[in-house]
Formats: sequence, C-alpha cells, structure tokens
Amino acid sequence: MASSMRSLFTDHSRYVESFRRFLSNSTEHQCMQEFMDKKLPGMIARIGDTKSEIKILSIGGGAGEIDLQILSKVQAQYPGVHIINEVVEPSAEQITKYKELVAKTSNLENIKFAWHKETSSEYQNRMMEKKELQRWDFIHMIQMLYYVKDIPATLKFFHSLLATNAKILIILVSGASSWQKLWEKYGPRLPRNDLCQYVTSSDLTQILDELGIKYKCYDLLSTMDISDCFIDGNENGDLLWDFLTETCNFNTTAPPDLKAEIMKDLQKPEFSIKKEGKVLFNNSLSFIVVEA
Ligand SMILES: C[S@@+](CC[C@H](N)C(=O)[O-])C[C@H]1O[C@@H](n2cnc3c(N)ncnc32)[C@H](O)[C@@H]1O
Repeated sequence: MASSMRSLFTDHSRYVESFRRFLSNSTEHQCMQEFMDKKLPGMIARIGDTKSEIKILSIGGGAGEIDLQILSKVQAQYPGVHIINEVVEPSAEQITKYKELVAKTSNLENIKFAWHKETSSEYQNRMMEKKELQRWDFIHMIQMLYYVKDIPATLKFFHSLLATNAKILIILVSGASSWQKLWEKYGPRLPRNDLCQYVTSSDLTQILDELGIKYKCYDLLSTMDISDCFIDGNENGDLLWDFLTETCNFNTTAPPDLKAEIMKDLQKPEFSIKKEGKVLFNNSLSFIVVEA
C-alpha cells in the first residue's frame, strides 16, 4: 500500500463533502423513505398501546432528516400522544444541524427533544451508573453501527432497554450489496482506521442469531451513480472514489495497479448495472426490525 494513501476520516471536511456527494448521487435516502412509508407504520402499530407517552431513542441520529420522518409516522399512528425523542450523537456539528431542522419544521408541538453529545458506549456507561434503567418504546440505529467497536455488547444493552411492544430498527448496507464484495476483495489493500469497520447485514444477523434475539430483515434496492468515477479529472468522481474506498484523495494517491483493478471490477455486473448510459453501484440497504 502506498504510504501516501490515508483514511478519509483523518480529513473531516473532505469526509463530510464526500458523504454529501454520496447522498446526492445515490437513492440512499429515497430508499429509506420508501421503507418509512411502506413498512414502518405496520412495525410501530403497537409500540404506544396503553402508554400515556411514547419514548424514542435515536442512536447516531445525524442531522435528523430521517429521525423526523420516523416521528411523523409515530404521530400519524398515535395522534396527539406526547412523544419524547432523545438523540445520542457525538458530533456537535450534526446536533446543531438537527436543532436547526427541528426549529424550522412545523407540527412538532407534541414532541419533546433532548440531545446527548456522546457515543453509544458513553451513553451505555452513563446509564449503567444509574440505579434504574430507562425503558424505550422505539430505538433506532441508522447507518451507524460501522462506528461501534463492540457491536454484540451494544445490541445486547439496547435490547435490554426495550419496553413492552417496543422495537429496534437497524439500517445497514445489505450483505447482498456491492459494498460487501468491495470490502471483501479490496479491504485488506485499503487504508484502515479504528473508527470504522466493514460490517453488513450478514454480520449483523449472525450476531443477533448468536445472541438469541428475534428479528425480521427486509432488503430494499438502492443504487449509487458512479458514472463520474470513470471520467478523468472529474471532481464529483474523485469525491465518490473517496467515499467508495474510504480513502482521502484516492484518485491521486492510490497505487496505479490497485486503482486499475478496482476500476475494472466496478464496471462488472457483480458490482454495478449499466442503465441509460449510467453505471449504478449496488447500494442495497437492509432494514432489521428487532423485537422486544
Ligand atoms: C452515516 S451518519 C448517519 C446519520 C443518520 N442516522 C442518517 O442515516 O442520515 C452516522 C452518524 O453516526 C454518528 N456516530 C458515529 N459514531 C457513533 C457512535 N459511536 N455512537 C453514536 N453515534 C455515532 C455520526 O456522528 C453520524 O452522525
């Protein structure tokens, strides 16, 4: 590996920009919206039964776009019922964005928000010091388990916080997505950091099985348009390369043979489909619904 190749996470602003490009060049959030519209209402149909308020815990809620979609579905299911929405999020920047979004969104009067600037394990440690554990009616972990060191312990802990009829929703890239193939084949040759691990729904369902926790898993197709990655000197393509490889400035710092190999593979049908002149990488998502 060339010593000049370094993890994307060491340059936070480039990481944020490459993630933004990923969102605008993929159907990631549209895919989540589809799940929230079609499956979420059935999944939360009983979480608030016989309760005077509904308590929701968001782990790694980011800037809150998906969290507010979830809240609107809970409001529709339980009109007028008071909701408590607490967010565990280590990034101050994301919390600020979340608060701004809440401030400019209407119809949130019956929801009380609280933000905790901490990681899931810091939250876990803080809670363990208390005498009585707080119970939750709905907990979600959306595209964040990659950043958790001990996933089995984290799942076990949050599962123990579920109230009657409560559920956990986990969203992660699917084991059938091209991320799994990319990480399997090229992970060992790409720079790593200890902040992020390659984990897909296949790993997660195995962990849940080992823990004896019941769940249902749904897969939805999502794609990422990587056409610009094959145009020399294209700025959008460069940022998408960084996101795909989690490497800062991959296009200019990667060893030429590695770049050529990945480039060739990404155009193969195992990784991407070609449609209307575009190259669409398989970014399928898994939605894992865990029972109390
Ligand atoms: C890819 S973003 C997903 C944000 C949001 N859930 C969404 O899907 O739009 C991952 C989020 O997890 C947060 N995060 C990173 N490490 C975390 C940890 N150990 N515990 C909780 N959240 C974490 C990040 O700050 C970031 O906001």
